[in-house]
Amino acid sequence: MGIEKAKILVTGGAGYIGSHTVLELISNGYGVVVCDNFTNSKPDAVSRVKKLANRDFPFYNTDVRDEGGIQKIFSEQKIGCVIHFAGLKAVGESVKIPLDYYANNLNSTLVLLKVMEKFGANNFIFSSSATVYSGVNEMPLTENSVTGNCTNPYGWTKYMLEQILRDAAAANKNLRVCLLRYFNPIGAHESGQIGEDPKDIPNNLMPLVAQTAAGKRGVLNIYGTDYNTADGTCIRDYIHVSDLAAGHVLAVKYLENHAGVSVFNLGTGKGTSVLEFIKAFEGATGVKIKTNTAPRRAGDLPVSYAHTQKAKDELGFAAKKSIEDACADTWRWQSGL
Ligand code: NAD
Ligand code: UFG
Repeated sequence: MGIEKAKILVTGGAGYIGSHTVLELISNGYGVVVCDNFTNSKPDAVSRVKKLANRDFPFYNTDVRDEGGIQKIFSEQKIGCVIHFAGLKAVGESVKIPLDYYANNLNSTLVLLKVMEKFGANNFIFSSSATVYSGVNEMPLTENSVTGNCTNPYGWTKYMLEQILRDAAAANKNLRVCLLRYFNPIGAHESGQIGEDPKDIPNNLMPLVAQTAAGKRGVLNIYGTDYNTADGTCIRDYIHVSDLAAGHVLAVKYLENHAGVSVFNLGTGKGTSVLEFIKAFEGATGVKIKTNTAPRRAGDLPVSYAHTQKAKDELGFAAKKSIEDACADTWRWQSGL
């Protein structure tokens, strides 16, 4: 079943990246069906997306591992493509409860692939991560850089799922797969109505900076100032979540004309240090962040940023928004929480 005449099932569509992508898909004229079990999100996110889009869409409170539940969605809706965001994603937590991570992330994908084959839905877009790249690579990371040697179970789930998807596509020539390796998603919708709202203590820099700015945390730890970088802090490729969402729309279009498995980095190609990041946040919001120099965090790579040429040439993707845009948007969102 082609994508253009059918709907797109967005799993994890109530989550951070999923909610922005649902909005972007609707803005581009696609019909969507959303499924989420709210393990790391709230029903309010779905209502807000509907309001921003000024459009209703089918929502299923279903665990993607529930094969019967997923079959019900496919039998009630005409699904031509799946964008699979649903999964557990906290690196530290994955070290503590690895089996939950493997069970959730692997089984959800296996169930989707099985049901898709049964119903003749052949297009699959997968949320992978720059975490699949091994630490041995030169920068910037190309899609052909070495993968593996992951430092935590979360990373291994992404690595394993990429392999599972390649094997599934090798066995079923009708299956088209797009692996999107996200770098560091940040920011919120420019309306400030949807954004990242971590249930527990966040791991990532942006929510921690925003919570410190909002007075919810006393001080921001800077993990390591003795790296071999210009200012001694780690360098990452921070990409605005709305740019990332737009990348998924391009991936849907790409699958309409490309068989087999394709893989793309979604990043900006620009590295930013932790100190530069804090400065950008302070500049964009006018709020001063109280910081504390802390030891290096285990498992952190000194530098990670994307080579973006392949995504540009083949997908037509280029990030448009700056870190300052992302900081201002996050602050608008955070201030409303
Ligand atoms: P998120 O936690 O905000 O969204 C994931 C959503 O999936 C949540 O709404 C959660 O409730 C739902 N979910 C989890 N398990 C489910 C299940 N079994 N059935 C149904 N729903 C389930 O995370 P996010 O930041 O939006 O990430 C989306 C995807 O992108 C994830 O697969 C993540 O691993 C990947 N990714 C995220 C980042 C990042 O830094 N945010 C980086 C690289 C890759
Ligand atoms: N950092 C701090 N202080 C904090 C939090 C983070 O200094 O309080 C630093 C980290 O040490 C790192 C940088 O900010 O140098 C970015 O850290 P994040 O946790 O925001 O991002 P990571 O690059 O470590 O991890 C992210 C995702 C992972 C994914 C990885 C690679 O969170 O899921 O990118 O794609 F695996």
